[in-house]
Amino acid sequence: MNTQENLRFYYDRMKEMYHLQCIEALLGWDQQVYMPPQAAQARAEQSEYISCLAHQKITDPEFGRAVDELYEAHESLSDVDQVNIRETKRVLDIARKLPEAFVAEMAKASALGYSTWAEARPKDDWKAVEPILEQIFDLSRRRADLVGYQDHPYDALLDIYEPGMTLAVVKPLLLDLANQLKEMIPTIADRFSAEDRLQGRFDKDHQQRFVTRIARDLGFDFQQGRLDTTAHPFMTSIGPNDFRITTRYHEDNLLSALYGTIHETGHALYEMGLPKEHAGTPRGESVSLGIHESQSRFWENLVGRSHEFCAYLIGALREFFPQQIGSLGAEELWKRVNHVEPSLIRVEADEVTYNQHIVIRMLLEERLIIGDLKVSDLPGAWNDLYEEYLGIRPTDYRDGVMQDMHWYSGGVGYFPTYALGNLYGAMMMQKARADLPELPRRIGGGEFAPLLGWLRENVHRYGMTFRAADLIRHITGRELTDKAFVEYLRAKFM
Ligand code: CO
Repeated sequence: MNTQENLRFYYDRMKEMYHLQCIEALLGWDQQVYMPPQAAQARAEQSEYISCLAHQKITDPEFGRAVDELYEAHESLSDVDQVNIRETKRVLDIARKLPEAFVAEMAKASALGYSTWAEARPKDDWKAVEPILEQIFDLSRRRADLVGYQDHPYDALLDIYEPGMTLAVVKPLLLDLANQLKEMIPTIADRFSAEDRLQGRFDKDHQQRFVTRIARDLGFDFQQGRLDTTAHPFMTSIGPNDFRITTRYHEDNLLSALYGTIHETGHALYEMGLPKEHAGTPRGESVSLGIHESQSRFWENLVGRSHEFCAYLIGALREFFPQQIGSLGAEELWKRVNHVEPSLIRVEADEVTYNQHIVIRMLLEERLIIGDLKVSDLPGAWNDLYEEYLGIRPTDYRDGVMQDMHWYSGGVGYFPTYALGNLYGAMMMQKARADLPELPRRIGGGEFAPLLGWLRENVHRYGMTFRAADLIRHITGRELTDKAFVEYLRAKFM
């Protein structure tokens, strides 16, 4: 086939795979939002059938041949085609190195690991998860060997979630950050007291109307999206005009629903801003998990926990919850949404202590992957690092080494993307503030369009044109560093 025929075949096939991906996303969304419990078995089979079809499509030798030929001819391709072929070739090359038996074994271990963990965590039963966790780290090591790496086996795992990122870049960066945070945390935590919590009972239906209003103000388009309720908030895309976010409601904790919604809205605003004409191809997809997380945490923290946002938020709160809010002012609200205190649980951590949770996990993953730490010694090593980086020590497994599902469900090398998201986001915000001097006044007045426009222009519209490191350089003219993030924290809290 000539280049034109190959391209036609490539785009037809990509479209088929995009349909399958969206159908699978819809099945998954329904499973978490509406599905009755007894439908679980059949739904699992339906999902597996769809992902099997998708797997056949991408591993079809005809498709591989077309991509290889287009890759060889990439100089004659348009810019858009070059991005698409480059990224598809990358995924394909990795897939070709993984034998089918290995992929099946990994999928089985991940599913078993997740269900074992979900059952064992409430019972604080470490012994129940230890064997499967050992198997998952063995398989992760094997995956790294199969895929190959230049310097460190961890690079091959990191690369799944953050293409192009290596331990040689991320480790010094996060260690430098962690050491600075270690000194800053006690001083900052001293500024907050136990009373800095938003008290009161907040009716669930009323919370829902409130967070819907906030998401809409931020720019979430309800003509191409929905907000529903789940135990764990998430965002998923079901098509170029269909973005679903979820949050949770606790009557004694309004901030949980609010910041869960803002976080997922950030993810959705990114997806809504990707070029729709390229939907289903890399040119129309997000760069990496780190860049995705930079967008969610951008709105949640850099915007949503700023003084100017509190000036806007207090108005909306007075409108929806006049009794509970009473005479609370914007400055007092700022203290309540920013409460800094070392704690055991990552997902509940404030923006200052959060990265310590990540550096701990990265250091442990590195040691587990090279065999320097045995899974049986993991809980002790976990607790020691919590003491070193946060000054607190878990007293059980549930709130220690068993708190996150990632490792148990096969996600090794995933955690650093969260911290990278914080660093990318801070660098973007520094530039956005320089480009938009009016920004604080606009946000204070509840006008988020200028900032969203800036993100659309500088981040969203590019899809996967750039890798994360190149995108950051393209936006800021600088290499990735922790400087903007540390400066931001110092200016905000010290
Ligand atoms: Co997120």
